[in-house]
Amino acid sequence: MTRPTFSTIQAMEILDSRGFPTVRVFVELSNGIRASASVPSGASTGENEAVELRDQDQNRYFGKGVCQAVTNVHQLIAPALLGMDPFDQALIDQQMIAIDGTKNKSKLGANAILGVSMAVAKAAAKASHLPLYRYLGGAGTRRLPVPCMNIVNGGAHADNSVDFQEFMAVPIGASSFCEGLRAVAETFHVLKSILNQRGLSTGIGDEGGFAPNFSSNEDAIETIIQAIEQAGYKPGEDISLALDSAASSFALKENGEYDLNRSGAGRMDRGQLIKLAGSWIDKYPIISWEDPLAEHDWEGFQQFTARYGDKIEVVGDDIFVTNTEYIARGIKEGSANSVLIKLNQIGTVTETIEAIRMCREAGWRYFLSHRSGETEDTFLADFSVAMDGGHLKSGSASRSERIAKYNRLLEIEQELGTTAMYYW
Ligand code: PGA
Ligand code: ZN
Repeated sequence: MTRPTFSTIQAMEILDSRGFPTVRVFVELSNGIRASASVPSGASTGENEAVELRDQDQNRYFGKGVCQAVTNVHQLIAPALLGMDPFDQALIDQQMIAIDGTKNKSKLGANAILGVSMAVAKAAAKASHLPLYRYLGGAGTRRLPVPCMNIVNGGAHADNSVDFQEFMAVPIGASSFCEGLRAVAETFHVLKSILNQRGLSTGIGDEGGFAPNFSSNEDAIETIIQAIEQAGYKPGEDISLALDSAASSFALKENGEYDLNRSGAGRMDRGQLIKLAGSWIDKYPIISWEDPLAEHDWEGFQQFTARYGDKIEVVGDDIFVTNTEYIARGIKEGSANSVLIKLNQIGTVTETIEAIRMCREAGWRYFLSHRSGETEDTFLADFSVAMDGGHLKSGSASRSERIAKYNRLLEIEQELGTTAMYYW
């Protein structure tokens, strides 16, 4: 059998779930197989993320167009990759990194590079007649992630009185992915009726969670716990909570303090914020806490992890940006015990897998994640199963760009049948 090679690589500008441009890439192989992939986009981005190339042409989409990234795929990436073997994922990614030549992918754009990188993986999976999760994960692939469903949105993802960005319901006690998904989706619907009864808004934020004006951050947590109970589940046993403070978004640049001004909780220093988190960990069934401190506050992360790391998963997102350079420092300094994994923070499939490898070797967990700006692409669902990560966040039980990933996981679970595994 002659191995297929790339015959066409094309890109176009599409819209993400917030209505802003992003990149979609199409590839075709010499045997006629086609695949496409679409790139997500964040709002509370870490400073050291790979660069999402935007046109800065104020006459189009307020400067957010991605025509240059599309052109880069056509003029700089495609000529180098045509004729290459789609099974050479690492070599292809390496090639694009070399053409880019910058540390943060600012020449080609991480959006251009990742679109191609994901499309390559999809084409190779099709060419080997395997589902993407099995192609990327291998013969032993059988574990579904626990869906950490973001049912209350705050911070940069909503215009409400909640400082912390994400409040997730985590179905740790379920026997399968579909039962877990049902538990948290039911909780989401009960939460809606509780908010209605209280006269609070049931409008949703960027990731599909409710975004009302709670009286405090604690009120948000307590209302979710009430929803879990009313839905017939036991908090801490059936469903636990995961938080993403996204603390970089309320950190003050000038003095390293934190300003919880949306809720009116006011300013506090690192020590006070860590103490506040501790009182919540004692009081509420919190199992995982992401970005409890800002991306520059390495010392704060270290203190937080030293105090609570044996009780909960401490996840670094903005601080590590899926980059092995920062993850290595975190492992050395004990800054966390888990890494949030976002493909577009680093910009290639291969480097994302490297980040995960580093976590595994250190005995750290890793938490697969969508972005707040998403598309209908379900790559992440297959990727999460392939990486055996154990948990995933893909937003709430609303907005089709979020549900598409959960639905794809339902399909995968059905395909795996009795061989499917599920646990926290
Ligand atoms: P983002 O948010 O996609 O807007 O960066 C997700 C997160 O902070 O985890
Ligand atoms: Zn985050």
